[in-house]
Amino acid sequence: MKKLTIGTIKRRKNETPLVMITAYDALFARLLSQSADILLVGDSLNMSFGGNLDTLSITMDQMIYHTNAVCNGAQDTFIITDMPFGSYTDEKIALDNAIRVYRETSADAIKIEGGADKASLIHHLTSNGIAVCGHIGLLPQAVRAEGGYKVKGKTEEEALSLIADAQAIEKAGAFIIVIEGVKADVATRVAQSVSIPLIGIGAGNGVDGQVLVFSDMLGLYEPFVPKFVKQYMNGAKKVKEAANAYKIEVQNREFPNENYIY
Ligand code: KIV
Repeated sequence: MKKLTIGTIKRRKNETPLVMITAYDALFARLLSQSADILLVGDSLNMSFGGNLDTLSITMDQMIYHTNAVCNGAQDTFIITDMPFGSYTDEKIALDNAIRVYRETSADAIKIEGGADKASLIHHLTSNGIAVCGHIGLLPQAVRAEGGYKVKGKTEEEALSLIADAQAIEKAGAFIIVIEGVKADVATRVAQSVSIPLIGIGAGNGVDGQVLVFSDMLGLYEPFVPKFVKQYMNGAKKVKEAANAYKIEVQNREFPNENYIY
């Protein structure tokens, strides 16, 4: 049985903040599910796992493969999977792809990037039995269209637009919203403007929970460390040290010693 459900997640509004972490495979899903309320199979896997420059080239098939791996590793954890770029360009395509997620994996919900412009699409999904997580603010799938990753909420106009986005998504039936790359005071106002939980990433502490990309949180991803990322361990250093210790023992014929042979 799942530790959390849509109902218990919604009831965490204004309560103990929700802990969301990304996961891309069964190995890390098993380890991270001990601490995470929700695991997100983020399309960020296209960058940290796939080595690509942005999230845009990941496919539905790849998301489904990774979602199954995460579901296998964390069967009692609530799992949200990202709908990849191009998989929700209209209502029919979005519903067909969301149904694929439900038929081919045991993910609990899907995530869609976009604000009020996606409200009717989200309504179409939720009214057809799909649980939807919204994603507003900095939208990684818009990186090429916007010419970079742009922090949002810098003007009052942007603040009001983010509030309108969150309210439209809530009205469309979403049960939770991720807010990314938004000025902290504005994210707090957005959180206060809706009755579903708002999960922040680079959006300060006045929201209903936090999400981090696991490879950022563990200090494993070296190419770029965003300002909002706290590394809870120096994973890259530890992995390199371990691999180097193995290398030295192999080269010196110290491994395998008598403890590791048949
Ligand atoms: O893809 C992802 O990991 C995400 C998080 C940044 C929220 O969408």
